[in-house]
Amino acid sequence: MTKRISFAGPSITEKEVSYVLDAVQNGWYENYDGYVKRLEQTFADYLGVKYALATHCCTLALHLAAAALGLKQGDEVIVTDFSWVATAYAIAYTGATCVFTDITPDTWTIDPTCIENAITPRTRAIMLVHTFGQPAEMDEILALAQKYHLAIIEDAAPALGSEYKGKRVGTFGDIACFSFQGAKMAVSGEGGILVTNSEEYYRRACLLASMGRTDSRAVFWSDVLGYQYTMGNLAASLALAQLERADVLMEKKRALFSRYALNLKNTAGIYLITEKEYCKSNYCYPSILLKHHTREQRDAILAGLRERNIHARPAFPRMSGFPVLERRFENPVAAEVEAKGISLPSAANLTEDDIDFVCDSLLRLL
Ligand SMILES: Cc1ncc(COP(=O)(O)O)c(C=O)c1O
Repeated sequence: MTKRISFAGPSITEKEVSYVLDAVQNGWYENYDGYVKRLEQTFADYLGVKYALATHCCTLALHLAAAALGLKQGDEVIVTDFSWVATAYAIAYTGATCVFTDITPDTWTIDPTCIENAITPRTRAIMLVHTFGQPAEMDEILALAQKYHLAIIEDAAPALGSEYKGKRVGTFGDIACFSFQGAKMAVSGEGGILVTNSEEYYRRACLLASMGRTDSRAVFWSDVLGYQYTMGNLAASLALAQLERADVLMEKKRALFSRYALNLKNTAGIYLITEKEYCKSNYCYPSILLKHHTREQRDAILAGLRERNIHARPAFPRMSGFPVLERRFENPVAAEVEAKGISLPSAANLTEDDIDFVCDSLLRLL
């Protein structure tokens, strides 16, 4: 059997092992939340924001973001149609309606020109995604949000370390959320974190994330209908070690992408998603569009790769097609990417030779 070329997977060093071991051995009693607090402070410092709240996963951080903004039934939120379902469901959990808009063909992030057309008197917020690590077009999005008095949630789940015009993503919107799920650049198994500069949003998110507990009238008193969404100390110990190595992890991701670029950049029929000159992507998931292939041919290529033990992923289906979301939208660019897009392996244990093997296999299958 040839080496398994995994789609994603972390880099684990002595640092991670020592932090987790320390959390297991000593992270109890008065130290029960020591790593959670360190993770939150280190993450806030890393981004240069005031507040960070670690959560069980990013989906729950996104739900807290939507709830902290006070979204409710009757509100509309403009959401990119191309993302993992968590982006839309976080809005839907509050009862608000997702109005799905199309993406740009060059980075697969929300198309600012589509946002304005989707705004109605009910629009309250824009939920964008820094898709696969590529920053969304923040200048245009911020201008629209200001013009129409809309809040911004940045779903930065896969985009730790990515930059837009020299500033890290997650620092532009009212609230942003990141993921430490096992396929991300920095992992804790499951894990997420919410960041904001707003004390009001932070306090509301903290209240909701810990069962609405306030101790205002008695110990264990709960004042609002809350949730148990906070991260545990063990997961935080792993997330902290990874965060402290974020620069190294990002360099590895970017090196793997460079190898893909070397092999695929000028290949007819393949469009390789590449960072804009004013952005820095963490290239969490290097991705391509097979311009002249059908969905069936794309799926056959994925199956062919799998036979060679190469685990690549098809692009996301448009969320607007999901049964539980009642409104339907066309969004032709997202439709094309859904049918023809592939995300390529970029696990931390891959070498340049592995990437060459992936590219060689892909080109033969094409
Ligand atoms: C864009 C996006 N948003 C949200 C999530 C949810 O993150 P989590 O799995 O930590 O809940 C993911 C996870 O892959 C994602 O890719």
